[in-house]
This record gives sequence, structure tokens and C-alpha cells, in this order.
Amino acid sequence: MSTGGLGRGVGVIGAGYVGLTLSVFLASKGVKTICVERDGDKVRKIMDGVSPIHEQGLPELLQHVVRDGVLEARDEIGDMLERVDIVFITVGTPTGTDGVPDLSQVEEASRQIGEAMPTRRGATPLIVVKSTVPPGTTWHVVRPLIEEASGRTCGEEFHLCVNPEFLREGSALQDTMNPDRIVIGAKHGEAAERLKKFYEALYHPSKIPTLVTTPTNAELIKLATNAFLALKISFINLISQVCEATEDGDVGVVAEGLGLDPRIGPLFLRAGLGFGGSCLPKDLRSLRWFAARLGVDTLLFEAIIGINRAQRLRIVEKAESMLGGLSGKRVAVLGLAFKPGTDDVRESASIDIIRELLARGAEVRVHDPAALENARRVLGEGVTYCSELYECLDSADLAIIATEWPEYTDPDPSTIKSLMRKPLIIDGRRVLNTRRLLEAGIRIHTVGLYSPLA
Ligand code: UGA
Repeated sequence: MSTGGLGRGVGVIGAGYVGLTLSVFLASKGVKTICVERDGDKVRKIMDGVSPIHEQGLPELLQHVVRDGVLEARDEIGDMLERVDIVFITVGTPTGTDGVPDLSQVEEASRQIGEAMPTRRGATPLIVVKSTVPPGTTWHVVRPLIEEASGRTCGEEFHLCVNPEFLREGSALQDTMNPDRIVIGAKHGEAAERLKKFYEALYHPSKIPTLVTTPTNAELIKLATNAFLALKISFINLISQVCEATEDGDVGVVAEGLGLDPRIGPLFLRAGLGFGGSCLPKDLRSLRWFAARLGVDTLLFEAIIGINRAQRLRIVEKAESMLGGLSGKRVAVLGLAFKPGTDDVRESASIDIIRELLARGAEVRVHDPAALENARRVLGEGVTYCSELYECLDSADLAIIATEWPEYTDPDPSTIKSLMRKPLIIDGRRVLNTRRLLEAGIRIHTVGLYSPLA
């Protein structure tokens, strides 16, 4: 396959969702890709052609590119810098609950890159920060670390850009193949131009809107985008609370009406149990921390976080009032992943809900088509893990739909009635096809809908 314009090869440091998907995609385009990952288990899996993450389409493509030798994974950087023109940093940047970012992995990657930079003259590697980092990190943390470790000057002997990632888990490969925009932050025009050219060759013939700006702006665009998405979700969840308190409100219809205004748009207005995952909550906290440090009022960020937390707790309170207390009651929680299409349970609404149900004395059974194992690592043995949906509902007093997996939308009413001790469902994600169930006498509380149940 011709890789015209794509150079000799690409290095990727960190095989998480972003790094692995990017690596597999680049390799599928014929770009020789070396992925460095410190977790030896992950490296072995990748080299065996097995995807360490659950992502649609990834296992097949991964197997293909490893078999063809276009993708190589390893646990040390070694001679990578000798063999590639561009290195992407895609390591994790977790934050604590206070939002203080842990940049240790980015720092370590920067040092490693600096130390591994070839001594021969003429090669000017392009280093691209794709990890989500607080504004200022690329220029004031990554650059000096590389300069110090390599003895080279940024802008002369190596180039540096920040290029935030906007892919969504569950459709990571699709999003990487078809990005809706590219944002590049650089201090030197040549660095930005090199990355822009690389993407033009990669995505040719399609043209993707590209914004070239300063590193700080690019870093801020990423955090602000996720904070704004979180804002939309908390806003509609607040409206869902208003709807529930009226006599015939339906947040679904209100959201539809809102979405008709082109200034608002219909996306990210699905009311439910709020946002989870490894990005929206973390980036919001990170932006709040960054703004507070600069003396900026963070009231809006606090409110978004507060509504998200409350939305989870409200469901447990609803369950408690529907059952007249939770002690000794059997509750089936359907869905553990933070959204469908992934096995990721990080900051998932259902994890918080399950912990609260247990704290209030409920017996909890759980089901998820993909995330049972990951949930077990987080929740331990205090709950019953069911690999079958109907096994989970067995003798339950109440079922809570916590993730909108398609398998939960249309359960068989007569099976539910015969299995459950009480045919009561809380539809936390507004996915149930309710007509058949209601006709069969099953009682349902749907988030954002007036319900006389409690
Ligand atoms: C998010 C962003 O959407 C991506 O653009 C970004 O690249 C990524 O974070 C990141 O920073 O890496 P992701 O975390 O995969 O992607 O998940 P989303 O699809 O954004 O969903 C986040 C949460 O919001 C989920 O828990 C989902 O259930 C919830 N959500 C989403 C709602 O409750 N309502 C909605 O209308 C939309």
C-alpha cells in the first residue's frame, strides 16, 4: 500500500482507547506504527492480535495489522525515535476528585522521548500531545522535559504540537476514521504545518475542518468542549426534574422542541442518569480546578457536577419510596457500563447507584452485556453478577435500567411478570418500549416523566 505523504512511520506512546485506536487506524492505512505501552500484558495481547479494549470493529482490524507486521507493540521506547517521524503522546491523565491533574505519565513519556531522540543531525521529530492536559502543559511541562532530556531546542531540532482527541468510546474507530474537526496547537508554524500535511495525506480525499491555534487555546478547546457537553446533559436533567414534578411533563418532548432551535441543536439532550466515563467528569473537574486557580468563578461548573451527582441519588430515593424502604429488597440493576457499546465502568452512574443501594440495605443483582468483569473489579463480591438478563430479574422487587443497551428496550412482559417478585421498573435511561409492559400491568417510573408511582 502506498503511504505517500505519511512519512516513514509513527510512534504512539500509550495503548489506551485513544492510543490503541489511533495505532490500529494508522496501521490500517499502511503507516508503519510502533505503539509503546508499559503494561506488558496489554503488549502481549496486542501482539497476539487480541484487543485489550471492547470497541466495535477494533479486534478484526487489530488482528489484521499485527499479522501484516504494520503494527508493532512493545513495552519500551528503544529505537523508536530512529524509525519514525512523528510521535503521539496518548497516555492517561487522571484527576483526583478535586480536579488536580496527575501529569506523571505525560512527564514520563516526555522524558523518554527526549532521552530516545537520535543524536544524528537532520532528523527533526514531531512530537504531538494527544492526551487531554490542562492549558499550558504542552509548552511549560512537555517542552522543557524533552529539551532537557534530549539537549535539543524545540522549534529547531524537534517540533511540538498539541492535537486534542474528540473520539467517543463505543465508536472510537469510526470517530478516528472520520473526525469532524482537527484542532492543532503550536507555537511554531512549521510544526503545525507538518501535522496538518500528515492529516491531509491520511484523510485524503476528504477535507476535515482544521483549526490551527496556540497550544493553550487547543488545550482549552478540549476541556471546554467536554464541559459544554456535560452542561447540556445536566441542563436537560434539571428540566427532567421539573417535568417529573408536573402533571403531564415529558422531558423527551421538551428536548425535541429545544433541539429544533438551530442555536441549541438536538444532540446531548438525552435526560437520564447523567454523564459518566473517563472524560466528561474528569475534564470538567480539571477545568474547574484550572479556572479556580486563575481566580475565575466556578459556580457554573459546580452546578453541572452537583446536578449530575443528584440525578444518581434521586433514582435510589425513588426506588426506596417505590418499595417502602430498601432493606432486604432485591434490586436488579441492568447496565454497568457508563454507556452502551463499551465495557468501561469508570465513573459509571450505575456504580454509584449500586453502592448507594447496598448502603441502604438492598440485595443487588447486576447484568451487563460487556462490563461484568470490569464491574466486578470495582464492586467486589457484594453483588450477584448475572450473565443472563432474565437471571438477573429472578425474584427481584424492582429493576433499574442504568445503561441504555439495546437488549433492555423490549423485554418480554410475561417473562418479567413471572420472574419478578414485584413487576416494578425504573427506566433511568428512557429506553423502554413501555406500551406492552404497561398493558401487561407492569409499573414503570421513567426519568423525566410524571409518575404517580412514588
Ligand atoms: C466524550 C466526548 O463525547 C468525546 O468527544 C471526547 O473525545 C471524549 O469524551 C474524550 O474526552 O475522550 P465519551 O466519554 O466516550 O466521549 O462519552 P459520551 O458519548 O460523550 O458520553 C458521556 C456520558 O454522557 C455517558 O455516560 C452518556 O450516557 C452520557 N450522555 C450523553 C447523556 O446522559 N445524555 C446525552 O444526551 C449524551
